[in-house]
Order: sequence, then structure tokens, then C-alpha cells
Amino acid sequence: MNTPEQATFSLFSGELAENPFTLLAQLRSLGAIVPVPFPLGGTERQVWVVTRMEEAVRILKDHVHFTVDRRIISDTSLFGQNAEEHTNLSAPPSFFSAGTSMLTVDMPDHRRLRTLISKAFTPRYIEGLRPRVQQIADELLNQVQEQGQMDLVEEYAFPLPINVISEMLGVPQADRARVRVWSAALATGLGLGKREPGIIAHIQAFADYAAHLVADKRQHPADDLVSQLTAIEEQGDRLSEAELLSMITLLIFAGHETTSNLIATGTLMLLDHPAQFEKLKADLSLVPLAIEELLRFNGPAMIAGPRYATEEIEVAGQRIQQGDIVIPILRSANRDESQFTEPDELDIARALNRHIAFGQGIHTCLGAPLARLEGDIAFTTLLRRMPGLRLNIPRDNITWHFSLNSQSLAALPIAF
Ligand code: HEM
Repeated sequence: MNTPEQATFSLFSGELAENPFTLLAQLRSLGAIVPVPFPLGGTERQVWVVTRMEEAVRILKDHVHFTVDRRIISDTSLFGQNAEEHTNLSAPPSFFSAGTSMLTVDMPDHRRLRTLISKAFTPRYIEGLRPRVQQIADELLNQVQEQGQMDLVEEYAFPLPINVISEMLGVPQADRARVRVWSAALATGLGLGKREPGIIAHIQAFADYAAHLVADKRQHPADDLVSQLTAIEEQGDRLSEAELLSMITLLIFAGHETTSNLIATGTLMLLDHPAQFEKLKADLSLVPLAIEELLRFNGPAMIAGPRYATEEIEVAGQRIQQGDIVIPILRSANRDESQFTEPDELDIARALNRHIAFGQGIHTCLGAPLARLEGDIAFTTLLRRMPGLRLNIPRDNITWHFSLNSQSLAALPIAF
């Protein structure tokens, strides 16, 4: 058995094998909340990882004892000797900048920022996008149907969500390839405790692009979210310029990487479980349930963002000190044997499935209704039009990219 040190090193370093679940089970056996060394910015600190559902939910919902806003924890030494590097990293107005995106602030700023945009992400509003998302899915498959094969990542799972979120925001078609490069660079280069060369330049380019987009929408407002947010910023006190730019990069970034992973990794999971795959193909009305199970079984986000303890508190018998970093491992909670029967089985018709693949509490994924709609359309359309789909390379030849808090398929060649 790995020591907790080895286990978490693999977990955070991106040296994880395709299947992290053995490690996660080992961590769960050590406790609901486990102290582990964590390679943050080159220095090693101790953090707590939360391995079980009950404790993960408790911490994610406890906005009094835990905060996402590291400015609240005055101890800058949290970031070790590399505090300066972190400060530099925060300089460009990207969503990583301290305290300007909804993901990294608490009440009351969190509510103010989230409310400005939340109407565009309600299940009802999102349902209105269905015909357009369907059209995008069909157009993508039309382009490959005759070929009898495709790379599902490159030709379907990636372009579908990026086109949807870009249309919502008003990112021109011609710019989407560049946005992809920056987001991918951010996702892979900014893994926890990891800092790849050139990453600052990508963050800066992404931030400059957001500023350019805003300037453009000021001149030529259109019926899109960036134009609406820009108008709100101009009215004065509800949204600052820095917050506006962070919001835009956050929505672009969060809105496609994860959803492409759901579609691509989800397809591979189905191919890995032929009986479940057949069952789904035989009854496509099971797709929404199957998506929830794919989110539970191997959701795109390994962890929620770090939480910082605002005061000393006990969790599952462990004393957490003020300022301690606590990281809920969503994929571990979603395999918690005290919550799910046969958690390591993929059961697309699982009746009771209260997973936390979208997080919990006030920071629960804003885009969950959109991700679910995109997933629904992506899987339904793919399985309806290409029911004979199968892997087009040996299973062992599949390669993965390791990114910010997840792993994604480098490619998924299929034949149909
Ligand atoms: C399957 C796809 C997705 C997964 C698994 C996912 C996962 C998550 C998780 C776990 C969080 C909470 C992070 C935390 O508490 O630290 C989150 C937050 C967020 N997600 Fe998603 N996400 C997905 C798709 C999307 C999409 C399509 C959007 C669209 C814009 C989006 C936008 C956001 C935003 C804005 C937040 C921050 C919410 C807040 O802090 O209030 N996500 N997501």
C-alpha cells in the first residue's frame, strides 16, 4: 500500500495513472479527513484532504468556518517562499487573480457577482438553448458521418461546448481557436503546486483578450452576455472592470474544458462497460440518468477549490487550525462506500445518486444546467446517429493529459 505521502503526491502532481480510484480508496481507509504533504508552489506544506461525502458536503456548505478567499487568512506564508510568485500570478486580471471572480470570494461579493449572471444559467433559460445546441451537435456529426471514423475529442467533445459558451458570451468564431490554446495552457500549466514555464504569458494573453473583447462590445453591443455585463459595469457600482474581466475568463474557461471531459471520458467509460452501453443505446431516455452516473463515477473535477479554515475547528476527530488548507476530493466522496451501494460499479440507471461532481454550497457549479443540457444532447445525438461506435485504437494506446484538477483524454479515435 502507498503511504499517504505517495498517494497524494500522485494525486496532485499529475503523475496519476489513468485510474486514481485505488489511491482514493486507500486515502478513504485512512480517514474522512487526512493530513498530507502538498507541493504548493515548490515548497511542501501540510494540507487536509477530505475523502468522504458527509465531511466534504459539510465543509463545502460551511461558509462560516471555511472560506475560499485566501485574503481572509492573513498568513501569507501559506504560500511559502513562493508567495511572490503567487502575487505575480495574481497580477493579470484573469480568474486566478485574488478575489475578483465569484469562485474565489465569499459573501457578500459572491452573491453580488453570481446574481449578475445567474439568470442566464437557470435550467429554464438553458432549456431555451436546446434547439441551437442540437443544431451544433448535428453539424459536427454531419462533418464526419461519411468518414466512418473520427477523433471524438477533437471533432465533437471539444467543439460542442466551446461553441455553445462562445455564442452565449459573444466570442467571435475566429477567436475560438486562440481561446482554446490559452485555456488548455492554463489547465495543464497551473495544476496545483505546479508552475509551467510560459504560463504567465498565457494568462496575460487571455486577460488581454478579455479586455479587447469588452472594448469591442462597448463599441458594438450585441445580444450576448459580454455586452450585457459590459453595460452593467458601465452603470457603476455593481461590477468593477477587474471583476468583469475575471468573470469573462472564468465563464470561458470553466464552460468548456469540464464539459468536453464529461462527453469524451464519459464515452470511453461507456465503451469500457459494454453491458451498460447496450442498455443505454436500447433506451436513450436513460441518457440524463446515465450522465449523473458518469459524473459520479468519473466526474471531470477531481477536487473542489481549496478552502481555508477561518478558525480552529474539529472535523471527523481531527483538529483543523485556523488558516489550514482543506481540499475536498470530489471523486473520492463520489465513491464513498458509506453513501453508495457498489460505488465502483458503473450503473447508468442508479436510483439514488447524490453525487457532488458539481460541488456543493454557494459555489455549486453555476454551469451545471448547461453542462447537463450539453451532455444530454451530445450523448443522445451521438448514440442515435452512430450506434455502432467503437474504439478505433487498442484500449492500451489511449493517452491522457493531466490538467488543473483533472485528467482528460488526449484523443479518442472511434469508428462507427
Ligand atoms: C461537467 C461539467 C462541469 C463540471 C464537472 C463542473 C464542476 C464545477 C465544480 C466542482 C465547481 C465548484 C468549485 C468549488 O466549489 O471550488 C464549479 C464551479 C463553477 N462552474 Fe462548473 N463545472 C462544469 C461545467 C461548467 C460550465 C458549462 C460552466 C459555464 C459557464 C461552469 C461555470 C462554473 C462557474 C462560474 C463556477 C463558480 C461558481 C461559484 O463560485 O459560485 N461550469 N464547477
